[in-house]
Amino acid sequence: MRILVTGANRGLGLALAQTGAERGHHIVAGVRDVRQGENKLSDFEFSKSVSIVPLDVTNEESVIRAANFVKEQFGSIDAIVNNAGILLERDKTIEELNLDQVQVSFDVNLFGPMRVVKYFLPLLLMGDSTTIINISSEAGSFDNAYGGDYAYAGSKTALNMFSQQLSKYVNGNNIQVYAVHPGWIKTDMGGESAPGDPNDTANGILELIENKRRIESKYVFIDHKGSPMPI
Ligand SMILES: NC(=O)c1ccc[n+]([C@@H]2O[C@H](COP(=O)([O-])OP(=O)(O)OC[C@H]3O[C@@H](n4cnc5c(N)ncnc54)[C@H](OP(=O)(O)O)[C@@H]3O)[C@@H](O)[C@H]2O)c1
Repeated sequence: MRILVTGANRGLGLALAQTGAERGHHIVAGVRDVRQGENKLSDFEFSKSVSIVPLDVTNEESVIRAANFVKEQFGSIDAIVNNAGILLERDKTIEELNLDQVQVSFDVNLFGPMRVVKYFLPLLLMGDSTTIINISSEAGSFDNAYGGDYAYAGSKTALNMFSQQLSKYVNGNNIQVYAVHPGWIKTDMGGESAPGDPNDTANGILELIENKRRIESKYVFIDHKGSPMPI
C-alpha cells in the first residue's frame, strides 16, 4: 500500500515510516525539513520504499503541493496518517495561558489534519479500500480531563470530533476513519520515562491500515490496538 505519514522525520512518524517500509508498504514521508528527513530516512534497509516530500501541515500551499506530487508520482494513495502534532502550554493555568500558542496548537493538531484530508481525499477515493488515521491522544477524552493542557487536550478533542464527522461523510466510500491514541510513548514529546515503544505503536497502526484488526467500537476514537477509547 502507499501510505502518507505527516511528521515522518522523528518520533512516532519516523517509526511509522520505517516500520511501514519494512512491512512492504511505500511510504510518502511528509517532513517540514527535507534535509532532516533525508538524514533519518535515506540510510536504512528499506529506504527505497520511502519518498520524502516537503509538508508543513499549517501551510495550505505546502499541502496542495504534496497532494499534487503524490497525484503525479503515484496517481492515488491508500492511507493517510495525520501524525504531526505539538504539545504547547503544558501545565499552564487558564490565567497564565498564551492564547496565541493555543491557536498554533489548533493550527497543527486540528486544522493540519483537516487541510491534509481536504486535499488528499480525492486521491483516497480512487482506491478500493482506504484508511484515514488521525493520531489523537487520551488527553482529548472527557473521561481523562485533568484540569490543564487546554491547548493540546482541546485540539485533540476537536480532532476526535472531526474524525467522527468525517467517518459519517465518507461512509459508503470504503474509507475507514479512526482517531487513534498511540499510548504514552518514548519520543521527544512523550519523554524518556514513557513506557511505550513507538515501533510497537507503529505496528499496531499499520495493522489497522492493513485491516488485520477487528474493531468493535461505537465511535472512531480507539487505541493503537483497536480497543475503544473513552469519549
Ligand atoms: N509521545 C506520546 O506519548 C504521545 C501520546 C499521545 C499522543 N501523541 C501524538 O502522537 C503524534 C506524534 O507525536 P510524537 O510523540 O512522535 O511527537 P514528536 O516526537 O514531538 O514529533 C512531532 C512530529 O510532528 C512534526 N510537526 C510538528 N509541527 C508540524 C507541522 N506544522 N507540519 C508538519 N509536521 C509538523 C515534527 O516535525 P519537526 O521535526 O519539523 O518539528 C515531528 O516530526 C502527535 O500527534 C502526538 O500528539 C503522542
